[in-house]
Amino acid sequence: MQIPESYHGREQAFVKHQLLETYLLRLFMIIGQYQKNIRYVDCFSGPWQEGCDDLQDTSIGIALKIIQKCREGLKQMGRNVTFQALFIEKNKKSFQKLQNYLAARPQKEVSTTALTGDFFELRESILEWCGPNDFTFFFIDPKGWKKVVEISTLTPLLKRPNSEFLINFMYEFLLRAHSQDLFQEDMRAIFGEIPETDGRSPEEKEEYLVKLYLKRLKEIVPARGGKPRVVSVPVLEPTIDRTLYHLIYLTRHAKGITVFMEASEKLDLVQRRTRAQAKQKKRENKSGQLELFSSADWMPMEKHADPAEVKLFWLDRLTNSPCQFGIEELADMLEESAWFEGDLQAAFGELAKEGKVKNLDATGKRRSKFVHFAENHSKGEFLIKVIP
Ligand SMILES: C[S@@+](CC[C@H](N)C(=O)[O-])C[C@H]1O[C@@H](n2cnc3c(N)ncnc32)[C@H](O)[C@@H]1O
Repeated sequence: MQIPESYHGREQAFVKHQLLETYLLRLFMIIGQYQKNIRYVDCFSGPWQEGCDDLQDTSIGIALKIIQKCREGLKQMGRNVTFQALFIEKNKKSFQKLQNYLAARPQKEVSTTALTGDFFELRESILEWCGPNDFTFFFIDPKGWKKVVEISTLTPLLKRPNSEFLINFMYEFLLRAHSQDLFQEDMRAIFGEIPETDGRSPEEKEEYLVKLYLKRLKEIVPARGGKPRVVSVPVLEPTIDRTLYHLIYLTRHAKGITVFMEASEKLDLVQRRTRAQAKQKKRENKSGQLELFSSADWMPMEKHADPAEVKLFWLDRLTNSPCQFGIEELADMLEESAWFEGDLQAAFGELAKEGKVKNLDATGKRRSKFVHFAENHSKGEFLIKVIP
């Protein structure tokens, strides 16, 4: 996999777009099975830093491509789903480009609307456009944080039932700002308190700040629907080992979490490849010499779940009497740990090999995984801890 030329120098946008594309495809195909109308809102749409006129390297082009694909896919399955998309953009020049692009689109089956103005001021109009009932996916991808990610700013949207959110949380900015006096009130509005991170390592700071924000997001409960569930995935600086932002995903469905984390697990590989290529390009530019081996063929390992830790996590959750582990339980574990299902599967497999745990439903079946969480109508399989 080579990163398209138009993403060079902004490889993090490629990673973000890959996640958006992979997840939206899965999401719309699932939601389209039982809802007749699906809405998509890009609250900070751009186009921004686009490398080509067809906008295929922007969230606008990507979302519309996926919507079209899902609409056709669902139609073939006998489901006639109506898709509607709303794009918000403040910058006049970008908005003009957006309007021209939408007007020139050949596929008119998907209705599109564009509004110009400030997201903060337009929140009510956005909610009016959504109406009260249709499933709506909100993509919130700002350049900064002010009047965007504060809990009070997002609350009217978060309270809307039947909605999901993908929020770009500008971690790098917040890391720099959170301890400065100048930004204390802003931080209180975002985190609900002034985060105290003295004495923490960079990794601990990141975990603390992101978890604090996720906790605040979860406190806003919509009028109907299940409890909010939130996970986040870090997007790193392409050539330096540092987090640029977190993509935060909020849903009210356990299944949403498992599907999003599946998309993120695939993204992990994309991100490693992308960064290896960006680093190689940087080295080559510096030395003026092409390297013998392509980084597309070789990727260094990046930080991953510690297998010993994942095993302990399992042992903590299992008991000596059989418990069913289904999609709800998987979502709980993914949410709490921020690991991938692959990490949990591998650890369970090792524990089973060591004779410490057992899947009581595994006997005599051909298995592709150690635990089939989606079995028995998502109620899962019975697992037991064998050791005391
Ligand atoms: C990070 S870019 C969006 C990139 C786009 N989502 C993508 O992935 O291709 C943020 C966009 O939001 C616009 N913008 C900035 N502040 C805004 C605001 N307050 N309300 C609406 N749009 C805003 C910027 O002009 C810019 O086009």
